[in-house]
Amino acid sequence: VQKVRYGMVGGGEGAFIGAVHRTAAAIAGNLELAAGAFSSDPERSRRSGAAIGVSAERAYGSWQEMIEREMQLPADARIEAVSIVTPNHVHAGPAIAAFGAGLHVICDKPIAESLESGQAIVAAARASGKVLAVTHTYTGYPLVKQARALVAGGSLGKVRRVHVQYLQDWLSRAEDTKSNKQSSWRTDPSQSGEAGAFGDIGTHAANLVEFITGQRIAQLACELRAVIPGRTLDDDGAAMFRLAGGASGLLSASQVCTGDVNALKIAVYCDEAGLHWNQENPNELWVQRRGAPKELWEAGANKAYLVGDALKVSRTPGGHPEGYLEAFANIYRSFAQAVRGENTMSSSGEPGFATAEDALAGMRFIRAARKSSEAGAVWVEI
Ligand SMILES: NC(=O)c1ccc[n+]([C@@H]2O[C@H](COP(=O)([O-])OP(=O)(O)OC[C@H]3O[C@@H](n4cnc5c(N)ncnc54)[C@H](O)[C@@H]3O)[C@@H](O)[C@H]2O)c1
Repeated sequence: VQKVRYGMVGGGEGAFIGAVHRTAAAIAGNLELAAGAFSSDPERSRRSGAAIGVSAERAYGSWQEMIEREMQLPADARIEAVSIVTPNHVHAGPAIAAFGAGLHVICDKPIAESLESGQAIVAAARASGKVLAVTHTYTGYPLVKQARALVAGGSLGKVRRVHVQYLQDWLSRAEDTKSNKQSSWRTDPSQSGEAGAFGDIGTHAANLVEFITGQRIAQLACELRAVIPGRTLDDDGAAMFRLAGGASGLLSASQVCTGDVNALKIAVYCDEAGLHWNQENPNELWVQRRGAPKELWEAGANKAYLVGDALKVSRTPGGHPEGYLEAFANIYRSFAQAVRGENTMSSSGEPGFATAEDALAGMRFIRAARKSSEAGAVWVEI
């Protein structure tokens, strides 16, 4: 099979997630970085392209130029997909243009800076019939797929309660807002969008809940706060929620939790057992039953007790840990397979990447959290 040629928007010098996407695509093995518009500054974009081996004529000055010039190349040379790794307010422009040109899109989360922008991207995707994948990283882990399969299998009973948290500390001081590229746009509503921490990492937590339980968050009551004076967007917040099936949940997302780095943890309590997964120790899934010893499910390509969906995305035998980059690579691999027209649907009914519907669920979650918080933490329907 021919590798999927992709062009990247964002991810230039000093950027964070672009390099992770490129590494993930390389691990996946079925994609090839062919072009890019790596920065809003044309000179920086060209320099960034040169530094990672993109040919000078295909490191473009802008994403508009990239799409226009690539479409003039022969069909077997031009890019087939666009990877979008820019700040949130620069997702819709390149995504809609890419779909308009008949290209597939893999875009980072949240899908856009606003619900309306997200809806416009999804409308363009549907009109084009091309693949839209969103990189909710954590659903790429083998044991997260195992957790989903365990819940879907029904042997644990119905979901009763979910506790999820995504806590960080990298914005916990006033000076953090000015200290780097990543923080300055995230704390600016004109670039980040409707929410701060809740949009940035609360959406990951919400997506993880929906992925493992197989249910949407249907209602929430939320308090968002800006703990550090002078911020206009939330840097901390918590929500009570209810799943479509009636279970209750708690979700907290914060970037001012001193000492926590990427503390994404989830507990899903079902009638018969609770499932526990912690992103910072992702190769362990604990199943806890009442009055019984705790059960440890471990990741590894040789762990025959795992479901096929988990084994399929495992590369190394147990004890040789895989992690963040491989989880990301699993999303890229499924995306490229979908671009080639392969059926990537798992036995629990997910295609290996967050879809347009999942992305919009994230935007509705952000909108509802804002609405609830502004009205004094009242319950809001999503
Ligand atoms: N999946 C995840 O876990 C994860 C993690 C981090 C970030 N993200 C998301 O990825 C996106 C980027 O975040 P980041 O932390 O890498 O930000 P960043 O500030 O480090 O990088 C953004 C890049 O986009 C470039 N850029 C800005 N405007 C541009 C334009 N018009 N044309 C071309 N390039 C342009 C910047 O020059 C920079 O290279 C955001 O949407 C963020 O929410 C997702």
